[in-house]
Amino acid sequence: MKYAVLFAMLVCAITQANVNILPTPGKIVPATGFYKVGAGAEIGLDGTFSNHWKITFQPLEKELGDEGYQLEVAESGVTVRSNTEAGKYYALVSLKQLEGLATDGKIPCVNIEDQPKYGWRSFMIDSGRQYQKMDTIKGLLDRMALLKMNVFHWHLSENDGWRVEIKRYPNPTEIGAFIANGLEQHGFYTQDDIREIVAYAAERHIMVVPEIDVPGHSVAALTSYPELTCTGTAPHNYSPYLYCAGRESTYEFLFNVLDELCELFPSPYIHIGGDEAPKKDWKNCDLCQARIKELGLKNEHELQVELTNRLAKHLKSKGRKAICWGDVVTLPGQELEDNVVIHWWNYQRSKDKALREGIRRGMKVIANPNRYTYINFPQKHPWRGYKENRLFDFQTCYEKNPGDIRHPTAGEAKALLGMGTCLWTDHNLTEEWLDRRIFPRAFAMAEQMWSTAQHLPYEEFRARTYARESWLSGMGIGGDWAEEY
Ligand code: ACM
Ligand code: ZN
Repeated sequence: MKYAVLFAMLVCAITQANVNILPTPGKIVPATGFYKVGAGAEIGLDGTFSNHWKITFQPLEKELGDEGYQLEVAESGVTVRSNTEAGKYYALVSLKQLEGLATDGKIPCVNIEDQPKYGWRSFMIDSGRQYQKMDTIKGLLDRMALLKMNVFHWHLSENDGWRVEIKRYPNPTEIGAFIANGLEQHGFYTQDDIREIVAYAAERHIMVVPEIDVPGHSVAALTSYPELTCTGTAPHNYSPYLYCAGRESTYEFLFNVLDELCELFPSPYIHIGGDEAPKKDWKNCDLCQARIKELGLKNEHELQVELTNRLAKHLKSKGRKAICWGDVVTLPGQELEDNVVIHWWNYQRSKDKALREGIRRGMKVIANPNRYTYINFPQKHPWRGYKENRLFDFQTCYEKNPGDIRHPTAGEAKALLGMGTCLWTDHNLTEEWLDRRIFPRAFAMAEQMWSTAQHLPYEEFRARTYARESWLSGMGIGGDWAEEY
C-alpha cells in the first residue's frame, strides 16, 4: 500500500513536471509515449496553427460548459474535443504551452479535461492615467490569451485622461486627452482603433468591456465641458469634482456617450465606474440639492445611486448590463436596477462589504479586491507614490487573495460572476513597467480564475510558473521577473 501511494505520487510529480500547463487543467491523465512535433509547427494566439500539426477536431460527448475541452495527445496525433469555438481555442492554448516546454520537439502523451472555474476572468488596464500604444494593448491581449483570461476591462477615462473618441463630443479627446502631465500620457484611441482592438480581442476569445468612470475621476471630461460641473467652471485637480447630478445636461451627455460606446463595443456589459466620488460639490450645489429634495432622497449618496440607476436603465433599454464599483452598495441607499453588476474592489477600506451587500441584494458580483488583485502595487519595495503598506508579492497574491473563494457558500456561488485583476497606472506607471508588474503575479490570478484542479502548494506552483519565464521571454513577453519589483 505504502509503495502504491509512493508510486502514485511519483507519477503525479512526473506528470506535473512534464505537463506544465498554467492555469492548471482540471484533470491530467498521463499516457505512454511522445508526440513528435514537426519542425516549423506553430500555434498562433489568433487560433490558427500550421499544418505541421496532426490535429483533429471532434465533438465533445461530455458537458464541459461554454469553454471546456478535452485534449488528447497521442503518438499518432492530437485530438481536440469541444462543442464551442472557445473550448477549441483553449485546447490550442494548452497545446501551445505543452509545445513551449517540449524537449527535442517531443510532447509527452497525455489526456486532459478542462473547463474554467469562472466565466468572468478579467484583466483591467488603466489607459486613463497613462495612454498605451496600440501594440502595447494588443500585447496585453496576447498575455491574457496565454493565461486564458477572457474579459479585457478597458478603463478609458480617469482624472485628466480621456482616451476614447466620441464623435458627438470632440472636446474630451481634443482637450481631455492632452491635459495630463507627461507627454507619454497624451493620446487617445480613434473609433477605428477601438474596432481594431475589439476584433483582435475577439480572435482571442476575449470580450472588451469599456469603462467610463462617473461621476468622479472625470477631470478630462469636465475640463472639456465645464458646464457639466456643479459650479460651471473647469476643475483644477481631480478631487472632488463630479458631474453635476442636478443638471439634465449631464444625463444627456452621458446617455449620448453610452450610445456611442454601445455601438463600438458589442459586449453585453458596459462599466460606468462609480468609485471614490467625494460629495463636497453636490453638498454645495443648489441644483443637486433641489434634485435630492424633489426625489425625496436622503443624501448625496442616494443621489449617486439615482444617477447610476438612470444610466443603468438607459443601458438596459439597449440590452446591456451596467457594471459599477462597489461604492454604490457599501453605504445604505435605495435598490439598484436589476441589470447592475457589483465590482468589489475596496478590501483595504471596507473588507468584503461590497460582496456581502451584493449577495444580500441578489446581485451579481465580480471579485477584484485591491488586496490582493491590484497588480500595479509593487511586490517588494516602495516605488514612487506606492508606500510600504501597498506592497504584496506573488506568494501573497497566490495564497491570500480574499477574492479567491475556494469553498463558496450557496450565496457566494450564486452571486460570483468571476474574478478580476487590475493594473492601474498611477504614479506614472509607463509602458516599460507593465510586464514587471504583471509577471509573475498574473499567473496566480489566472490560476484562481480558471483552475478547478486541486490547489497546488505555493512552492510547486512557483516552480511551475517560473518554468515558463524563458519561454515567454523568447516571445518577447515579460523579460524580467525579478521579484524586487
Ligand atoms: C478603484 O480602485 N478606485 C476602483
Ligand atoms: Zn450639482
